[in-house]
This record gives sequence, C-alpha cells and structure tokens, in this order.
Amino acid sequence: MTRKRYLVTGGAGFVGSHVVAALLEQEAEVVVLDNLSLGHAEAVLPGARLVVADLGDQAALDALLADGPWDAVFHFASLSLVGESMKEPFRYLLENGVFGIRLIEACVRHGVPRFVLSSTANLFGTPDRIPIDATARIAPHSPYGESKAMIERALYWADSLHGLRSACLRYFNAAGADARGRIGEDHDPETHLIPLAIDAVLGRRPPLAIFGDDYETPDGTCIRDYVHVEDLADAHIRVLRHLDHRSLHYNVGTGRGHSVKEIIAAVARIAGRPVPASLAPRRAGDPAILIAGAEALRAETGWAPRYTDLDRLVETAYAWRERHPQGYRTPTPAKIAIAS
Ligand code: UFG
Repeated sequence: MTRKRYLVTGGAGFVGSHVVAALLEQEAEVVVLDNLSLGHAEAVLPGARLVVADLGDQAALDALLADGPWDAVFHFASLSLVGESMKEPFRYLLENGVFGIRLIEACVRHGVPRFVLSSTANLFGTPDRIPIDATARIAPHSPYGESKAMIERALYWADSLHGLRSACLRYFNAAGADARGRIGEDHDPETHLIPLAIDAVLGRRPPLAIFGDDYETPDGTCIRDYVHVEDLADAHIRVLRHLDHRSLHYNVGTGRGHSVKEIIAAVARIAGRPVPASLAPRRAGDPAILIAGAEALRAETGWAPRYTDLDRLVETAYAWRERHPQGYRTPTPAKIAIAS
C-alpha cells in the first residue's frame, strides 16, 4: 500500500494537532502549514513536517501544493472567536473566508482530490430545533459563522464544477486532550469553559464567571454538546474514506448536552475540590442550548464517540493543563536542561 500524503493547514492548533496525531497513527506522511500566530510548533508531533507560512501567502501555498501529489487537504487554519468576529467582521470574512476560498481554488488547480473542512455549529445561529442536524437552515449569527459558510459554499461549487470532493464537519464544543498527554488545548486568550474552569480550580485564574443562570434550561445555565477532540479527529479520518462518490456535511457532537453548572461539577469531581465561581451577566450571542444531531455521521461512517462520560473527557483536559501551567510555553525537563 502506498503511503498516504496529507496537507493540514492549522495543524499546530487545538483540533488540527489532534488530527495530525491521528493521521500519523495511520502511518501517513503529514505536512502542516501554520503561521503559528495561534498555533504552537510543539503541538505538531514528531513525524509531521511543519511549514511556517501564512494561509494568505499565495506563493508559499502554491509551492506547497505543487509539491504533490496530495491525497487530501485538511483545512483548520482559522480565526475562531465568535465575539472577536463581531468586533472585527472584515478580518474574519477576509482571513477565514477569502483565504479559505483561495486555498480551495489552489487545490482545484493542483488536482487535490479531497478536502476536509473544520466547520462550526455557529453556522446555525439560534437553531429552530434541537438536536441540530446537518440539514438545518444555515443562518450564521456572526462573521465567524459566516466565514465558514462562505467556505462551505465555495466547496459546493468546487465539487459541482471541478469534482473536488469535500467533507464539512460542523463541530460543536471541541474539548479534552490527547489521552497520552502529548498535546492539549492552549489558546491565548482562553475563552472556553472547560480550560477556564480547570485553571480556576487550580488557582491559576480568578474564579470562573458563569455567564447567566436565567436561560430556559433545567438549571438556568447554557447547555452545550462537548465532544472529545480525539473523537473529533476520528470523524475526520472516517469521512475521508466516504468521499468517493459525493461530498458530505456532518454535525459532530455526542448528541448529549451538559450545562455550565454540570461542567463545573465535573471539574470539581476530578480536582477533588470546588471550582471557585461566581455569577456574571449573560455573554452576548450565547444560545441557550446547542446539541448536535450526528445520526448521519454515525450511520454513514460508523463513527461513535468513545468519550460519552463527561468525567473521562474532563479528566484528559485536566491532566494536560495540570502538567502544562503555561500551556506549550511550560518548560519541559528537556528544555530546562538545554537552557541551563
Ligand atoms: N461560559 C461561561 N463562562 C466562561 C466561558 C464560557 O459561563 O468563562 C459558558 C458560555 O456562556 C457557554 C458555555 O460556557 O454557555 C460554553 O462556552 P465556550 O466559550 O466554551 O464555547 P461556545 O459554545 O461559546 O463556542 C464553541 C466554540 C466556537 C463555536 C461554537 C459553536 O468555541 O468556536 O462552540 O457552537 F463556534
């Protein structure tokens, strides 16, 4: 069997680096394109080649794609903060949307046969129905969601007119970390609930702010579908095997939701002490409930999340953060030895 060869944009980021890890497990040759503005060189596991360049650098992109053949391109490189996108809409529409479309055009020109997009549940804004299945109406409430919708539309035409088969995976709440503790979640600024709750219980940050407890949910706090990043990575590998005949769109989540208070309770159980937390006003734009309808993904690809127990998911995130107080900037024994 010939060794598969993949290009992963944004492979130094949270989800991208876990997909790189899964591709390396399959003995594939993996090249990561990342400008390291949000990603971390240390997140790219040994075995993959890291090319540090910007997605907007057309010459670099062309040179890389010309160095084919590629079996597929996985596209993660993206700005991903909903709130930031409301303040800087054109940055999101240009850097995510336009650069993403340019990447697709270059893939078509260089004969790349398959494309997997890291997309988002933010496409659906405030949905009419829960769980949200992949055929739900696309009505982004933010330039971030809009930028992913732009890329999804470009992929539609890339398939219709040029035969580039693609899978758009709309993630719900990516969480957790590599079970072997090699890589994890390190955002700057960190805005996600689980890492913030863990840092609060470890005393590294101020008490967690609970953004509203007057939503129409059983305990009044927002409900989200937290999917383990290794399960997400597995979805990427599976969809690739199902791209021979048509392009695909899937929502990726467990189909089960957890409230903010349930997450706080899980972090407290793992830490063995309460999470310091206080009530704060609602965060603008947060829908009360987002739960994925992932039946199509399960039925058509055989995908099934392995992390269905919230505590097991939180445990992996906790283990990584506990050992990496400064994320990837945390000195490892090897780094300390070199420095001294
Ligand atoms: N939350 C708090 N306090 C915090 C942080 C978050 O109460 O300090 C709450 C939020 O209000 C929300 C829940 O915890 O109800 C989860 O918030 P996150 O910021 O962790 O995640 P979001 O659901 O807002 O967003 C995630 C991804 C987005 C993606 C979206 C799609 O981060 O990129 O899911 O649903 F677009």
